[in-house]
Amino acid sequence: MTLDLTPNLDPFALARALSGQHFYDGAFQAGKSGKTFPVNNPATGAEIGAAPFGDEADVNAAVAAAKAAQKGWAKLPARGRGKLVAECGRVLANHVEELGRLIALETGKALRTESRVEAGVLADMFTFFGGLGSELKGETVPFHPDMMTMTVREPVGVVAAIIPWNVPLLLMAMKAAAALVAGNAVVVKSAEESPLTVLRVTQIMNSVLPAGVFNILSGFGPECGAPLVAHPDVKKVSFTGSVETGRIVYKAAAEKLIPVTLELGGKSPMIVCADADLDKALAGAIVGMRFTRQGQSCTAASRIFVHEDIHDAFVAALKAKVDAMVMGDPLDEKTDIGTIISGGQFDRVQSYIALGRDTAGATELACSSMPTDPKLAKGLFVQPRIFTGVTNNDRIAREEIFGPVCCVIKWTDFDSVIEQANDSEYGLAATIWTRDLKTAMDATRRLEAGFVQVNQNLVVQPNLSYGGVKTSGLGREASLESMLEHFTHKKTIIINMA
Ligand code: NAI
Ligand code: MG
Repeated sequence: MTLDLTPNLDPFALARALSGQHFYDGAFQAGKSGKTFPVNNPATGAEIGAAPFGDEADVNAAVAAAKAAQKGWAKLPARGRGKLVAECGRVLANHVEELGRLIALETGKALRTESRVEAGVLADMFTFFGGLGSELKGETVPFHPDMMTMTVREPVGVVAAIIPWNVPLLLMAMKAAAALVAGNAVVVKSAEESPLTVLRVTQIMNSVLPAGVFNILSGFGPECGAPLVAHPDVKKVSFTGSVETGRIVYKAAAEKLIPVTLELGGKSPMIVCADADLDKALAGAIVGMRFTRQGQSCTAASRIFVHEDIHDAFVAALKAKVDAMVMGDPLDEKTDIGTIISGGQFDRVQSYIALGRDTAGATELACSSMPTDPKLAKGLFVQPRIFTGVTNNDRIAREEIFGPVCCVIKWTDFDSVIEQANDSEYGLAATIWTRDLKTAMDATRRLEAGFVQVNQNLVVQPNLSYGGVKTSGLGREASLESMLEHFTHKKTIIINMA
């Protein structure tokens, strides 16, 4: 199949052109079984394309290509690899509009508030990691005067990257760019809900990289993801997704005794003190809860603890802000909030809304309004919900919903609110909002999370280690540390000169 690299701003045409293909060994490849599955536009329910239903035969072919290419790739000077990865970033930057439009069509995330932004961050991740080639340093060790002793960093080999559908471009970039600079070859398994945009990214990257170094398969977890993890030539797995699947992947990797990085779920607390700058905290709640992404984020600030003195004012102002957000066609520039990714996730979110409604003492606030355009009648739109009057012990405040549903919980005592914030199986992100430096520092030390912020709610940033504690995962991503610790082995070399 041929598909040129000119940016294509018609996402419908691009989705059709990309249909039915994997990309490995430097070229588009049909699925071995010939079976495909449909890719739908969640804003209308219409089929926009198809993807191959990858299985073990496709896995074997892609991993063989990656294994063959990895040796030559690892032999390039580290800075030379870095330059090619940075070049991927430069070329991808020319495709931001194209990729933004396609990911909006495929996932239902609004173009202006989410999808175009994500496509920009994708390019930036490659630019950032591309500069890190010369940081693949070892150490010299003062072991013995007659022995020159040192460590060197070596790639692990073929890396499997398994990604979800909520921010596929960003998550693929974090894994791919770090693994590639370190000298590994990569096989990605895309999420079945969003196989097309990442396929286009792979094609674009392959216009820069040697064939076989970066490959992608589409398919479902048990049929395609599982054989990829189990493949004997895969030497590392980097996974982002649910806790449940993370456990399956971890067990399969344990069978082979290979390292894994796991980025799993969250139920992230946001603590607002009585002295907080209310406007900033409200803006932080909107960003933190990822209302523009329909709450489909592992770091979503879905437990908002607000001091009793400002609780009622905070809730009223938060509702007003979310009410002002526009739900609609993800490709429309006016839209703030698009759709849920799939029917399955839609049902799951609705069941949590019903659960919230049935929770003793809870008040449900439905925000914004459903789109009225008849073209969107079958769209997977969900009005954002704020639940007040719940406690941290209620299921709605304990389980990850992965939808536009947050709990605002009233607090009075600082020690108790820290205890409640930490009373969760998760530990991904946390924020504290106060003008008092001592309170802020105290909270940052005590909060059990991998990513803690004061008076802001930034998303993942290149250069800042990102990852969780407790069931939120293992390992860190997006940083120099992530490349060194998670995509290389350290080798010790001792040269006896006596
Ligand atoms: P999932 O964890 O099942 O899927 C993530 C990826 O893993 C997909 O590419 C999937 O095909 C793959 N996968 C599934 N089973 C596999 C297996 N046995 N071996 C290898 N790979 C496998 O997540 P799903 O079903 O899309 O969403 C369910 C829930 O997971 C969501 O409601 C949300 O709570 C959570 N989630 C968390 C994410 C995060 O960023 N931490 C992202 C997506 C979902
Ligand atoms: Mg699943």
